[in-house]
Amino acid sequence: MNKAIRIIHDEHRSISAVLSGLKELALAARDPKVQPEFAVFHAMIHYIDEFPERLHHPKEDNFLFARLAERAPETRPLVEELRAEHVLGAKLVRDLESALLAFEVNGVRDAAAFDAAVNAYAKFHWEHMRKEEKQLMPLAERHLTEADWRWIEGAFAGNEDPIADLRERDFADLFRRIVGLAPAPVGVADRWRRSP
Ligand SMILES: [Fe+2]
Ligand SMILES: [Fe+2]
Repeated sequence: MNKAIRIIHDEHRSISAVLSGLKELALAARDPKVQPEFAVFHAMIHYIDEFPERLHHPKEDNFLFARLAERAPETRPLVEELRAEHVLGAKLVRDLESALLAFEVNGVRDAAAFDAAVNAYAKFHWEHMRKEEKQLMPLAERHLTEADWRWIEGAFAGNEDPIADLRERDFADLFRRIVGLAPAPVGVADRWRRSP
């Protein structure tokens, strides 16, 4: 596996880890006796909103997808479909935020709707990542040249872009914050309090 594809895979694994944790906690929060800490939900949704938008999708849209569409015009419909999913994903995160807000304001009667929104988003995003890994990446490996990969890897490394480098570190910090805020076994914080 080349370096650029490994970076995309690693970023998918980070997004998946947050999505799995979010699913588990949204389900746990449906229990009327549980008193969830909403800070962890906010941090997780912030991550799945900002990380793809600021760091992950630009790598795909501007470099990997762009070069593949140039080299192999027959891949354009797939590339366009994935790009459209990036736009749709950002809208679905807004729905997730509204569902969280309703849950926070109205309490447990809106917990099931939040859980449903989390599951819908996670399913959408997993299918998107699977499509990239199973369909797009094999095509990229087939059609891109060594020089293309060097160009893509150079852009991903962000060596000449200190802002991109700072962003990488910010997201690593946010990821650690999520682990610190999430109750065990998702993270390392104490389990949520339960009313008697
Ligand atoms: Fe993507
Ligand atoms: Fe992706």
